[in-house]
Amino acid sequence: MDSFAATRSRMPDLEDRIAADPGGFRVLTGERPTGKLHLGYYFGTIRERVRLQALGVETFVILADYQVITDRDTSAHVADSVRSAVLDYLAAGLDPTTTTIFTHSAVPALNQLMLPFLSLVTEAELRRNPTVKAERAASGRALSGLLLTYPVHQAADILFCKGNLVPVGKDNLPHIELTRTIARRFNDRYGQVFPEPEAMVTDAPEIPGLDGRKMSKSYGNAIALSMTTDETADAIRRTRTDGERVITYDPERRPGVSGLLSTAALCRGTTPEQIAQQIGDRGSVMLKQLTTDAVNDFLAAHRRRRAELESDPAVVSDVLRGGNERANVIADSTLAEVRDHMDMGYANAR
Ligand code: TRP
Repeated sequence: MDSFAATRSRMPDLEDRIAADPGGFRVLTGERPTGKLHLGYYFGTIRERVRLQALGVETFVILADYQVITDRDTSAHVADSVRSAVLDYLAAGLDPTTTTIFTHSAVPALNQLMLPFLSLVTEAELRRNPTVKAERAASGRALSGLLLTYPVHQAADILFCKGNLVPVGKDNLPHIELTRTIARRFNDRYGQVFPEPEAMVTDAPEIPGLDGRKMSKSYGNAIALSMTTDETADAIRRTRTDGERVITYDPERRPGVSGLLSTAALCRGTTPEQIAQQIGDRGSVMLKQLTTDAVNDFLAAHRRRRAELESDPAVVSDVLRGGNERANVIADSTLAEVRDHMDMGYANAR
């Protein structure tokens, strides 16, 4: 069994434990602010965070802004992406009075945890990390020191607040494994401070992009939550389909058609096969029309709330100021505890 299958098989038991004791869990999860959040994010993670929040699990959402510059040499779009993500979080139902939304660049003590953590891993372990390898290959450039060590930074993101539950995508599982290793080694060496966090994966199907590949900001095949209805229609119209009149769900042979069917099905809460049946022999034009309506209907309330929030320029900065403040209090206290355990607490307040 691979680690994804293994993690997935633990989910029913985890759900039971969460339902029995939501206060026993602290969720830390988040993403790199590299562009606009899209439908894939919504179904894959945002909806899940809102669900956990509703169950009463304390939730932290990190916008990992320093992680953007691991593999690119500009921070030009970070600020816009951060603002846009906060608006989407709020519109989707994350409540900033219970959920802490913050950026790791604004939390110095979190970043300082990286120093003792780096001492607990070897260069060979860092070089073996499959995501580091994949991202290095994808970037087509020399491995930066920050890219090589970002899984350790991610461990600091999680452990600064003693997060014990981390909802992540499949590709992030090695980082959670490394976070557990770092927690264990720290505790063994200096005494018990950190939990060994558990990964959580959803069984939401991976949403295909408009071309049938995984929906991704970098493939240009995504439907952003913040698009207008017209932009949505345009993006869907541009999808490469085929001339066959009868619409069928066949991801291998008809990736474009099937991507649209999956998108429409998720938005309508049904299956791609059912949507295909509904369209029958009315071809791609009909499929595109139906998918556009499904997406625009599904996102209408989200977009309405988002526009309202956006009309008040103070909303985003207020949320981030509050979240960063709360994260700093927690990070300062964890760092003081770490220094104490390392016998470096000489300057801590008594
Ligand atoms: N690496 C994650 C991603 O690319 C983003 C991330 C940064 C994260 N820090 C985290 C996710 C801590 C979960 C927990 O999507």
